[in-house]
Amino acid sequence: MKVLFVASEVTPYAKTGGLADVSAALPRHLGRAGHDVRVLMPLYDRTDTSRLHLETVVPELELRLGRHRYAAKIFRGASDPEIHFLHCPALYSRGAIYTHDDDEHRRFLALSYGAIALCQRTGFAPDIVHANDWHAALLPMILKAFHTRDPLFATTRSVLTIHNLNYQGSFSSHILPDTNLAGVSHLFHQDQLRAGRVNFLLHGLLYADAVNAVSPTYAREIQGPDHGVGLDPFLRARSSTVVGILNGVDYEEWSPERDRHIPHPYSRDDLTGKELNKEALCTGLGLPYVKGIPLVGIVSRLVRQKGLDLLEAVMPDLLRRNGFQFVVLGSGEKGLEDLFFRMQRAFPRQVCFYRGFSEPLAHLIEAGADMFLMPSRYEPCGLNQLYSLRYGTVPIVHRTGGLADSVTQFDPRTGEGTGFSFEQHDAAGVRWGLEAALRTYRDAATWRRVVENGMAQDFSWEKQRKLYELLYNRLQNRQ
Ligand code: ADP
Ligand code: GLC
Repeated sequence: MKVLFVASEVTPYAKTGGLADVSAALPRHLGRAGHDVRVLMPLYDRTDTSRLHLETVVPELELRLGRHRYAAKIFRGASDPEIHFLHCPALYSRGAIYTHDDDEHRRFLALSYGAIALCQRTGFAPDIVHANDWHAALLPMILKAFHTRDPLFATTRSVLTIHNLNYQGSFSSHILPDTNLAGVSHLFHQDQLRAGRVNFLLHGLLYADAVNAVSPTYAREIQGPDHGVGLDPFLRARSSTVVGILNGVDYEEWSPERDRHIPHPYSRDDLTGKELNKEALCTGLGLPYVKGIPLVGIVSRLVRQKGLDLLEAVMPDLLRRNGFQFVVLGSGEKGLEDLFFRMQRAFPRQVCFYRGFSEPLAHLIEAGADMFLMPSRYEPCGLNQLYSLRYGTVPIVHRTGGLADSVTQFDPRTGEGTGFSFEQHDAAGVRWGLEAALRTYRDAATWRRVVENGMAQDFSWEKQRKLYELLYNRLQNRQ
């Protein structure tokens, strides 16, 4: 299959969250399975391409978005998979991947039109155009509006993957001319247009040949009003074609045996290194290291989705009574940052909040912590619990979305299960999960069992990419 994969972030060139990890690993594994996969992303000013030998594949490209004109180029980097960058400084030199600027819609419309131009200028006739999230969600509609008779795209089918339904790219309908689709405005959802809105993700749902979410449970949840964020009627209308495919893990990047970011490699057979990493983590963060004291970790964007506000009511009391340690890496909403700064001040020997983004520290927390906390309100897939399982860092999660599909409640009677999973998203739920984990930790043999159960799980992309291949094959009527 020839696949064009379009995303706003790809590790290691730009990353705010899991989308970047998926956009690097899934195409790589599809490529290794023999498909011809090209990835396209914007070239942000912060993107480090110094280790790539960039080659210009489209030297002069004028992107027209309504009355706006942008000079652009497309570069190719020799990497695995082959990566293409849309270079357009007027749009992407903003010091950030996402902005609240007035032209945010144009920044990502350019990416969709850049994708078409890349195919046209390089003679690449994709079997599959794989669009990710709202940033690329108008691409299927653009293909249907302008390219059904274009021989290059004659047999192209489109896939839209929803990584997070809460980010929809909803704009005032004043931007309609910028989409270049004003002449075919009947193709837009008419009620929405009358209400003065253009919603990119909605039109992806309407026009993509296949739609998937990043876990089976989330694919079901978003078809109901609680998690549908207003789009559930449209998802229900397509329910026979909306599938859930759990993300995989790039075990080349995320394995304790060969993680280049951690000082002490370890494995399921020999966990000695894990304890040494814990010591390195505590010492590095200025916390006292005391053998036998459990360490709970969090690595997260600090946003409402992640449910961390629940910790305000339970953590101080639990920290006081149980004496464990707690390390948080993340940044985001000020209220949440303040909450963790306050906890750090109140419990200086137990809590460390590292505000920021740090890939090496994220790896060290996965390796050094005993438990990993994800009380997400909703979680389309979640990668950190998958990483945690492999690192023997027992996940404590809210039973939702991909967390429900990847963490099974530990049962001390049977010795089965990989973590602690609470049903109710409230303070009592988090308290229950944390207390159950802390209690289990006290019995070393039982704890070892949970740890080993988790480390034995296989969420590799070698397995998960086959589900995307099935989807692609179905669209192309190939089996
Ligand atoms: P989401 O995409 O909703 O943020 P995921 O669990 O799918 O959630 O993916 C989060 C990814 O981003 C993980 O690879 C995680 O390690 C990384 N990450 C999040 N916050 C930080 C941070 N502050 N520093 C380093 N990595 C981070
Ligand atoms: C989104 C979701 C997260 C998912 C990631 C990659 O950012 O919030 O749950 O793992 O995309 O698909």
